[in-house]
Amino acid sequence: MYLTVCRFVSAAARLHAHTKHSMAYSAKIGPSILSSDLSCLGSECVRMLECGADYLHLDVMDGHFVPNITFGHPMVECLRKCVGQDPFFDMHMMVSRPEQWVKPMAAAGASQYTFHLEATTNPGNLIKEIRESRMKVGLAIKPGTTVEELAPWANQIDMALVMTVEPGFGGQKFMDDMMPKVSWLRSQFPSLDIEVDGGVGPDTIHKCAEAGANMIVSGSAVIGSDDPRSVIALLRTAVAEAIQKRSLDR
Ligand code: DX5
Ligand code: ZN
Repeated sequence: MYLTVCRFVSAAARLHAHTKHSMAYSAKIGPSILSSDLSCLGSECVRMLECGADYLHLDVMDGHFVPNITFGHPMVECLRKCVGQDPFFDMHMMVSRPEQWVKPMAAAGASQYTFHLEATTNPGNLIKEIRESRMKVGLAIKPGTTVEELAPWANQIDMALVMTVEPGFGGQKFMDDMMPKVSWLRSQFPSLDIEVDGGVGPDTIHKCAEAGANMIVSGSAVIGSDDPRSVIALLRTAVAEAIQKRSLDR
């Protein structure tokens, strides 16, 4: 009898924990269109959304912050016209002076402005400017930056991006040793959106999911696949299962 009651109580506690915590964050997959045919970016974005992408991760590189150049706000404006007003655009700003592009990106239709901590001397002011421009705030750290440097800002941002490669190029090898950063952030900020970016695909998703990442950027693994819909679904299932497991373990 005692055991039965205990079991009932612990099941109820778990159910309570589940109800209480399961809505805090959810699994979202954002293909990075960097590795697609850049002459067809509009149709590639549409194709990814049709294949089940939850959002689009758009990589802006300026040739200074990273040794590569991609595109800027004029392209974002065209993509916004192409996909309509609903899809969420996460702008990964790999640029030296992120302050410079807040207003142009907001006007072009960006949903979230994800800047690099290493690129600014005044993150607090930049966060304020992004909010005033009615975008969500993402804060990214390169592999060499510690998670403790990001922590003071964590309560002011919508999403933390832990880079799992050196930013600059698609198709690089996933860095396992970034996972402790994700685990630490998840333990300290249980409802924060945590994104991983770089070398994430079916082979590496479980490490990200177990560490506590819930927003998953995947470039070459999704774009280069013959069946992007299945890859997106696989990535989402791995993350959703880890979230559910964590909520039951609480
Ligand atoms: C790298 C970019 C990534 C990249 C990811 O600097 O920030 O978003 O496109 O591509 P994969 O998944 O191929 O590493
Ligand atoms: Zn990126």
